[in-house]
Amino acid sequence: MTAEPGTRVFKADPDSIKVAAACLSAGGLVAFPTETVYGLGADAANGAAVARLYAAKGRPSFNPLIAHVAHLASARRLAVFDEAAERLAAAFWPGPLTLVLPKRPDCPVCDLALAGLDSVALRVPAHATAQALLEAFGGPVVAPSANRSGHVSPTSAAHVLADLRGRIDMVLDAGPCAVGVESTIVSCLGAPTLLRPGGLPRAAIEKVLGRPLIAPDVPEDEAPVAPGMLSSHYAPRARLRLDADAPRPGEALLAFGRAPATDAPVLNLSPGGNLIEAAANLFSHLRALDASGASRIAVMRVPHEGLGEAINDRLARAAAPRPVEKDVV
Ligand code: TXA
Ligand code: MG
Repeated sequence: MTAEPGTRVFKADPDSIKVAAACLSAGGLVAFPTETVYGLGADAANGAAVARLYAAKGRPSFNPLIAHVAHLASARRLAVFDEAAERLAAAFWPGPLTLVLPKRPDCPVCDLALAGLDSVALRVPAHATAQALLEAFGGPVVAPSANRSGHVSPTSAAHVLADLRGRIDMVLDAGPCAVGVESTIVSCLGAPTLLRPGGLPRAAIEKVLGRPLIAPDVPEDEAPVAPGMLSSHYAPRARLRLDADAPRPGEALLAFGRAPATDAPVLNLSPGGNLIEAAANLFSHLRALDASGASRIAVMRVPHEGLGEAINDRLARAAAPRPVEKDVV
């Protein structure tokens, strides 16, 4: 199976899901929808397929991947669940939560996908297409977000194709993703720790645990516990200016709530100030404003509560200085 010459795009239905499962079994790369963002799937046990996946994304190979399975029962065969992990899985799976757990000695996920770690990140997605694909394939599927490394995550099949056309075997298209930001990642290797804010708000997790999540004990720039959390990530081409009230000349505006009157290109994350709607629109609005040709995007303030924590995390990363500075024209 090879990514050349073309990438096949299928509307997700029972037949195309069978084709996709067969493609994964043959070592192919399949982009598929989850409720958070589109993932780029490969057979987690197939080292060659995982190597092709890293190459397609242009991702640094030290960055471990999330293994997706259809059920908690399948997840239990891959990793050891302590009491906190059991509780979180019971409360939130299927759903936008990833758990980092000690892997079992016979865990079939290849070392390349785990970046050599003794832990494995597991997720049971809720999206019907993801569920059906995992069910049909019958084993763990590693799937990072289906974008070129460093780009914003895709929330539609068109976003996937913009980044990966010709580099992957197929895309299952089931329309836009409902949640719009990636899963929340909690490590249960010790006391439950929030590694990445995401589509499941922190408060919901803390309520189930009956205690606060702790923060990672090492600053991410020194030793990233979730390497995808490197500070410049999710970068659009245009520069971002955060906490803006109004656009300056030459800027586009990413608004939240009531937007100021302006002639600049404007997209509103949620005119009514709804954080769930804002999360679902975040990456597609960033892509669209990037495509408007503005060299800068002014971003209005988003409240830091509920999904606002994940939204502000992604905006801060998108605004961070780039590892390789490019001229902005
Ligand atoms: O919503 C999501 O989580 C999407 C969909 C496709 O499921 N996936 C996703 O994957 O966002 P990715 O590869 O873009 O982000 C996975 C994050 C990375 O930051 C990675 O470093 C972290 O999970 N990760 C994976 N395994 C880990 C481990 N054993 N310990 C700590 N962090 C881990
Ligand atoms: Mg990603």
